Amino acid sequence: GNWYADDISKVIVSEEQIREKTAELAKQVAADYAGVDGLLLVGVLKGAVMFMADFARSLDHPVELEFMAISSYGTRATSSGVVRILKDLDRDISGKHVLVIEDIVDSGLTLSWLLKYLTSRGPASLEVVALLRKPDAVKVDIPVKYLGFDIPNEFVVGYGLDYAERYRELPYVGLLRPEVYER
Ligand code: PRP
Ligand code: MN
Ligand code: MG
Repeated sequence: GNWYADDISKVIVSEEQIREKTAELAKQVAADYAGVDGLLLVGVLKGAVMFMADFARSLDHPVELEFMAISSYGTRATSSGVVRILKDLDRDISGKHVLVIEDIVDSGLTLSWLLKYLTSRGPASLEVVALLRKPDAVKVDIPVKYLGFDIPNEFVVGYGLDYAERYRELPYVGLLRPEVYER
């Protein structure tokens, strides 16, 4: 995945930092959920794919994997926090211990909606694992129990995060050069 190296001006979170933090978060989760049966990871497509795959493999605890795909209505700038479900859960999560896996909390609108939605499905517990958060972009406060990194409010891509569906496969999180999205 080095095709895009010229488009990235700076590495914000390196592969090694991601690996170490993922292991650290997985250790916390394994300790907190020790003895808990039926831990369900709900990944939010598409951004969470890389993190979810690595997190699940770091986790010394049995899990089941589920995915949801949701999309905000309208443009980012005018987002009302109302989202459309592109792919719903395949199964009932009631009575399950659920961990939502996200790549990033930006405005918080996606997770704000999703947490309400999942709560209405009656899980035994519900927490969030997010690799990244932009504290300066947050519009809705989200309780992120397991957080990787707070990052600057800048245009980052890689490790699941896209610009126009590209760059997701970069193994690190990097700053996208403005020339790329201004052209
Ligand atoms: C991105 C990201 C989060 C969400 C965060 O997903 O993966 O899911 O935005 O933004 P918010 O906190 O402002 O709601 P996006 O909607 O771009 O879909 P994608 O995961 O398929 O790229
Ligand atoms: Mn997403
Ligand atoms: Mg996206």
